[in-house]
Amino acid sequence: KQKIILDCDPGHDDAVAIMLAGSSPAIEVLGITIVAGNQTLEKTTINALNVCQHLGLDIPVFSGCDRPMIRERKIADDIHGETGLDGTHFDPLTKKAENKHAVQFIIDRLMASDGDITLVSTGPLTNYAMALRLEPAITTKIKQFVLMGGSYQLGNVTSAAEFNIIADADAAHVVFTSGRKVVMIGLDVTRKVLCYPSIVERMGKADNKASKLFVDLMNFYNHSQKEVFGWDGGPLHDPVTIAYLIDPSVVTAKAMYTEIDIRSTQSYGRTNCDYFGYLKKESNSYVGIDIDVDKFWNIIEDGIKMYK
Ligand code: BDR
Ligand code: CA
Repeated sequence: KQKIILDCDPGHDDAVAIMLAGSSPAIEVLGITIVAGNQTLEKTTINALNVCQHLGLDIPVFSGCDRPMIRERKIADDIHGETGLDGTHFDPLTKKAENKHAVQFIIDRLMASDGDITLVSTGPLTNYAMALRLEPAITTKIKQFVLMGGSYQLGNVTSAAEFNIIADADAAHVVFTSGRKVVMIGLDVTRKVLCYPSIVERMGKADNKASKLFVDLMNFYNHSQKEVFGWDGGPLHDPVTIAYLIDPSVVTAKAMYTEIDIRSTQSYGRTNCDYFGYLKKESNSYVGIDIDVDKFWNIIEDGIKMYK
């Protein structure tokens, strides 16, 4: 089993990432750590707790940083709504967040490990960056980062930048310069897994608590993605990180040097991926460049069917 910490900001696609990681026999989720991103920290924490409770996942949830390291907070309520998980219906919440800050949990868990923990991120990278700054000794304990963020082509907040990176570009800079392996699953691949109505219908057929949640999530998400970007199926960004861990062959990745733009005005938050190796620098990232779309949806379907 691969041990992971899942840092996220649920968020419709984050919720599906939790669903997929929570049911996979290949993955052990040591903890879910929460960051502000798609909505405020208070809301993203409640959302993660609701998803875990609904799916019967006994995973500890830790609330973390409520804003980026330096910049002003940006939320994505145009895509995820007022609650951050609009369109869902949950029973009254009884599951509680742990009484420890997410950053402290990340540090303590890594320090107690044999270096076998993968840090997955599907939101802004604030918690991981803060952990690296607070306790640099965790660096060599990190097996790898697997993150959804960035793009070597176009962004989705500006033409240059993707949401998770621009939301805390300084934190992304800390992670990409940490010296640990970073697998970057960016928009270049996640925009190929569009959750068309036919996919929603297919997943709904499992007819269990996970499939019902998936359908509610995607119906709202597809609607807002259509409003903002005009396509009929929203890109299911975040679960690609988990699908990659379950079966790395689902994503084709290329080693390259990536630098976060934290200086310019026009292209702030861009992941400058040196695809062609102009800079002749040692690679610090494996950037997703393609995805096996059929395989991805099969992994999602298998994950949903694991629930009773
Ligand atoms: C990323 O931004 C968020 O809105 C999604 O949850 C995803 O993590 C895509 O740019
Ligand atoms: Ca997210």
